[in-house]
Parts: sequence; C-alpha cells; structure tokens
Amino acid sequence: MEPVNIGLLGMGTVGGGTVSVLAGNAREIARRAGREIRIAHAAARHYDPRRISGLDRIGRISEDAFAVVEDPAIEIVIELIGGYSPAKELVLGAIEKGKHVVTANKALIALHGNEIFAAARERGVMVAFEAAVAGGIPIIKALREGLAANHIEWIAGIINGTGNYILTEMRDRRRDFGEVLAEAQALGYAEADPTFDVEGIDAAHKLTILGSLAFGIPLQFDRTYTEGISEIETQDVGHAAGLGYAIKHLGIARKTDQGIEMRVHPTLIPHRRLIANVNGVMNAVLVKGDAVGPTLYYGAGAGAMPTASAVVADVVDVTRALTTDRDNRVPHLAFQPHQLSDMPVLSMEQVETAYYLRIIALDQPGVMARIAGILGEEGISIEAIQQKEPQEGDTHVPLIMLSHRVCEGRMNRALARIEALESVTGKVVRIRMEQLAG
Ligand code: HSE
Repeated sequence: MEPVNIGLLGMGTVGGGTVSVLAGNAREIARRAGREIRIAHAAARHYDPRRISGLDRIGRISEDAFAVVEDPAIEIVIELIGGYSPAKELVLGAIEKGKHVVTANKALIALHGNEIFAAARERGVMVAFEAAVAGGIPIIKALREGLAANHIEWIAGIINGTGNYILTEMRDRRRDFGEVLAEAQALGYAEADPTFDVEGIDAAHKLTILGSLAFGIPLQFDRTYTEGISEIETQDVGHAAGLGYAIKHLGIARKTDQGIEMRVHPTLIPHRRLIANVNGVMNAVLVKGDAVGPTLYYGAGAGAMPTASAVVADVVDVTRALTTDRDNRVPHLAFQPHQLSDMPVLSMEQVETAYYLRIIALDQPGVMARIAGILGEEGISIEAIQQKEPQEGDTHVPLIMLSHRVCEGRMNRALARIEALESVTGKVVRIRMEQLAG
C-alpha cells in the first residue's frame, strides 16, 4: 500500500519528538497502522537538528505552515505549534481542505473544540487530540473507548507536571518556588507562559476536555473553576502531612444530581491513596466508573518523547480509520454529537467538599469556642482541630481545622464571619479536601 502522507506543523519539543519516534519506530508503527507513515511536508520556523533524529526522512521542510495545509498530497495534518492563533486557522483550514487533524493543543481544543468538531463533522474528517491531556498517558482512549460501558461518576487528576514537580520539591526539599519552576522550564515541561502551569490554566484546559469526555457535555472552559498553587505555603504542606494528607494540585470533575462540578485547585488527599504518591513531573488520572470502580492511569504527562507517543498513536488510529464509514467513527467527545447533554456546570458556591482551614487567632479563653460556634451556626461540622505552638512572644496561634463536607457558599459565609472577629488576624487559609474513596 502507498504510504500515508503527513504534514507536520511545528518542530519544537513535541514536534521534534514526533519526527524522532516516527523515524525510530517506523517499522513497528507500519506493522500496526497497515501502511508506512511518512512526513511528506513539515513547517517550522525554529528547530534544533541536533535534538531530532530522522530529519532526513522528511520529504520537504519549509517555514510556511499554510503551505503544508494547502499541499494536496497531505492526508493528515499534525498541529504542534500550540496556542490559539494561527493554530486555529491552520486546523480549520486543514479541515476545510478535507484533511484529518492530529493535535496536542489543549488550549485550542478546550476553547474552540466545539467549533472545530462541528467543522470536522461537516467535512467528514477526524480530529484526534490524545496528546492534549496528560502527555503520554492514553487517558482519552481509556475514557472514550475503554470505559464506554460506564456511567463515569468522577475524575480526579494530577494533570500538570510542572505544578506537581513544584509541590513535590516544596514538600521534600523545601526548595524555592522560582528555582524549581526554572528547572521544569529547562526540562521542556513548563508552558511557554509558566503562569499557565502555576495558576492552573493548563490543568483547566485539560480538565475541560476530560469532563466533556466523561459526561458527554460540550466543552465549557469558561465554566471550569481555576485556582493555582502560587499561594500554597510550605507550613500548610507540613501541617497537612502531620494530619496524614498530601497537598496535590488536582483537576476534579464530578457528576452530581444538581449538575457537574469542574474545578482545578490545590487539594488535601489522604497519603494512603496511590495518587497521593504521584510525585515530580509525573501525571495520574483517577477515574471512577459505576461498573468498573476506580481505575488509575499513571505516566509522563509532558516531554518530547512521551507526548510524541500520544501524537503518533493518534496518527496510527486515524490511518486505520481512513477507509471507515465517516458516521461510524469514535465520536470526538465520546458521545454521539446529538446526544450531548445540557446538564449545567455548577458554580463553586454550589460545590460540596471538605476543608482544611488555618486560622491565626488570639491565644485566649473563649476564642476557639467562638470560632467553633460560627461554624456550628452555619451548619459546618468539624472533623479535627489542632492548636499549634505560638512563636516565642507571639500572642496569636495557628488553629488547624478539618471540616466535614459542606457547600462552598456556606463555608464562604462562615469564613467571612470568622475573619471579622477581632480575635482573628488576617485571611483564613482554606484548602479543599477530598477523600477520593473508591
Ligand atoms: N506544561 C504542561 C505540564 C505540559 O507541565 O504538565 C504538558 O501539557
């Protein structure tokens, strides 16, 4: 059979890895795909030939990405430029020309996926995006196909390697935030704009995609609550550890009777859970299905070769499906497009979770009782309380509290009242807590 002609857009970290994997594993990949896969035309402004093997196998390299999209010989376009523009124009242009698309672009899919998938359906082409979430972990394949028998109840994932690396180093080595971030950037893990990593935006892109695949709802990035790790203090990491919890930056999607929770934030989780022990730049996604129970997917969430592994798997998938009936392909968002649900995404005020609180309070009789009284009046049940030693000469002490599950709106009201007490100093530190029990 004739080789499949690929057009490659971008030869940075992931693009370079894709060239190397396609060249290095060419025979094994062709045995699986049924045809040789050949990069016929690549476009890249900057690339480092010393870090890419197999450049000599590429038919033609230019700087013009639009020329690749226009090239009539190309059947599948791989978009690895990232960002919104010109990635969106290139992807829509490729679809318009009747070409299939493989992309690792989570921002593009999370924000513009609904429009892109509609255009792809119209033209009868595939858009594959396994590499957009958790790098090399085949979590999209698992959710869309492997777990197709289940009602998915919830997902909780460590889906940003840079953030996980920073939290791990803070806990284990008490290293400086900036220094660790610079290391993640050097390793090719961090986003071009690292605030996407530390402020949770990258994780929110990925969670938006996972939530849609799990529950069959349109992509709604603007409804995903996003909180980063930049405010996490080393002392809270220590207090949490003393109580048997790890602080992880999680993306959580959960289906409730009222609607769907979509939230990214630092979270206390029990040390005894496997996912609490996912450290460094590694990613993991825990998925609870009603039939299968809890399942855990672990692996490298970024980096040249792991992400290329997912890109090339998509290319193999698309190649195998080139001759299939366009109406009988795996739907982009796992559910048939006309079966997508309009179940609402809940606001954070409506979300129910447990909390870790650190309150700096005057060390005097009655203060603890007053705080506990406010929590009780708001219907918030306390699971544990600890009073830490005051610093020498200090009249205030940290009170650490764990609450039972409560609606965030109710907790907000209680915290506003606690912060207004004269005996309490500053803002209460509040970190959400999840048991993640199977
Ligand atoms: N910046 C991302 C991370 C890269 O750190 O996980 C993969 O999406």
